[in-house]
Amino acid sequence: MDHSERIKVMTTGNNMKDYEETYRNFDWKDVEKVFSWYETGKVNAAYEAIDRHAESDRRDKIALYYSDANREEQYTFLEMKEKSNRFGNVLRKLGIKKGDRVFIFMPRTPELYFSFLGAIKIGAVVGPLFEAFMEAAVRDRLENSEAVALVTTPQLLERVPVKDLPALKHIILVGEIEGELGEGYYDFHKEMEAASPELEIEWVDREDPMLIHYTSGSTGKPKGVLHVHNAMIQHYQTGKWVLDLQEDDIYWCTADPGWVTGTSYGIFAPWLNGVTNVIRGGRFNPDDWYRTLEKYGVTVWYSAPTAFRMLMGAGEEIVKKYDLSRLRHILSVGEPLNPEVVRWGLKVYGRRIHDNWWMTETGGILIANYPCMEIKPGSMGRPFPGIQAAILDDQGNELPPYQMGHLAIRTPWPSMMRAIWKNKAKYDEYFRIPGWYISGDSAYMDEDGYFWFQGRLDDVINTSGERVGPFEVESKLVEHPAVAEAGVIGKPDPVRGEIIKAFISLRAGYEPSEELKKEIYEFVKKGLAAHAAPREIEFRDKLPKTRSGKIMRRVLKAWELGLPTGDLSTMED
Ligand code: WT7
Repeated sequence: MDHSERIKVMTTGNNMKDYEETYRNFDWKDVEKVFSWYETGKVNAAYEAIDRHAESDRRDKIALYYSDANREEQYTFLEMKEKSNRFGNVLRKLGIKKGDRVFIFMPRTPELYFSFLGAIKIGAVVGPLFEAFMEAAVRDRLENSEAVALVTTPQLLERVPVKDLPALKHIILVGEIEGELGEGYYDFHKEMEAASPELEIEWVDREDPMLIHYTSGSTGKPKGVLHVHNAMIQHYQTGKWVLDLQEDDIYWCTADPGWVTGTSYGIFAPWLNGVTNVIRGGRFNPDDWYRTLEKYGVTVWYSAPTAFRMLMGAGEEIVKKYDLSRLRHILSVGEPLNPEVVRWGLKVYGRRIHDNWWMTETGGILIANYPCMEIKPGSMGRPFPGIQAAILDDQGNELPPYQMGHLAIRTPWPSMMRAIWKNKAKYDEYFRIPGWYISGDSAYMDEDGYFWFQGRLDDVINTSGERVGPFEVESKLVEHPAVAEAGVIGKPDPVRGEIIKAFISLRAGYEPSEELKKEIYEFVKKGLAAHAAPREIEFRDKLPKTRSGKIMRRVLKAWELGLPTGDLSTMED
């Protein structure tokens, strides 16, 4: 990496004027004064995000511009308040109360957002699930969380194994319903109509649970990362200083609420700041995205490296077809942002793309490039005020600049996860070095305090910014009748960051073939999720294993990259 390249200030706005000074003087306590609970002592993050504005001069301001191929709608803060209130009442009528898990398995539509906010308003714990999940992925998450209610569509319901989920009592269907509804099934629109737009908010403690996001580790089933209402402090302030949100901004975060970026920065940060939020349904498509930027006059745009790389692939000419002149601030998260992409963005959009770093577990942005700061392309930036980041060795000693080690954060911070659902051992692993959160990423710091990402220290795969646990894919693979054993790794890919590659040994009686590869790919795609299916499959007679029988993914990775395999003392013959 070139540490000397710098891109100077080009962004207008700048809520934060001077990074060093802000970092020195910042205190999280000062942020609390923004919220109404500073005076009342009563907390609810959905109230602060929506109702607080609906009860102010912003009541008729557009909170949400929604569109997809078939719909085009807009909602003011007051309308958002009433819609989410209605949904809160729908849940209350079903007997759902504080602490109950309410899951939402839906495409990005206004109903998803009403449900999300309404559930939080009554103190329920929300679990948003990405619409691309197939049955096995849905089952794992609903089973582990013991969700009592699910909001979904009649189409997606086909992937919900209702009979295997004894805790699941209520299913609320959004969309055209054919025939009679059985017991425990409800029509979203009918219930909403019948419900009152007035709601008594459930006031909770700052530390009360609010949200579960499932994410992957290198072993075991997906982990339910639990966040609390207190996270709003971080969502608000990072929205101010990293997203640089201002009163007249039109903000678009392209992430789905099934992933943490789509909640922390697709819901909370913009609305806690009272800013107009754009949601575009449907899939990625360069023309569609540029049209969305133009149509709404988006000023602040938060997306991901894979998307920027695909836009780069779509070329410069197409950009010229659209008027993107209102765009003032662009951000990226989820995977390494190549310096080349930053340079391209500067040339084609006339703006810098601001990389920032965080994780599902951290709940909010921890390291970032701020508008008021020089950018070094390839660096994730510098710690957010109030956040102390460091590079540690295995024993927890802080390492000097340019030495690679564990990227670690001093505990606690407002949006830090508070638990892994029903798995204390997993939670404790992150905090094994006293006083620190260990991210699982390796990085180094330069002499100016900028952090540079190096890679994951575990086997977790990052494909198009989506985190995939190899174990989950391997488990699905071995369910296929032809597969004896499977080992899954991330293989470097110029557009997606990594793709999923599976090494497979076949059962007796099966022969390697291209058709079989296709069949196995489809099997994972249909069973788990498209983004988790192996785009590349290699058949091997034998896979490298430890004496205790664990497949050695690091050996597979070394094979793939043509690198030395390292210490093989634990490998079986
Ligand atoms: C992992 C977390 C929270 C954002 C969405 C992803 C990788 C995240 C960067 C970045 C290089 C990054 C890390 C991290 N990652 N941001 N700016 N540069 N890598 O959340 O699914 O929890 O994944 O994504 O490896 O640990 P996630």
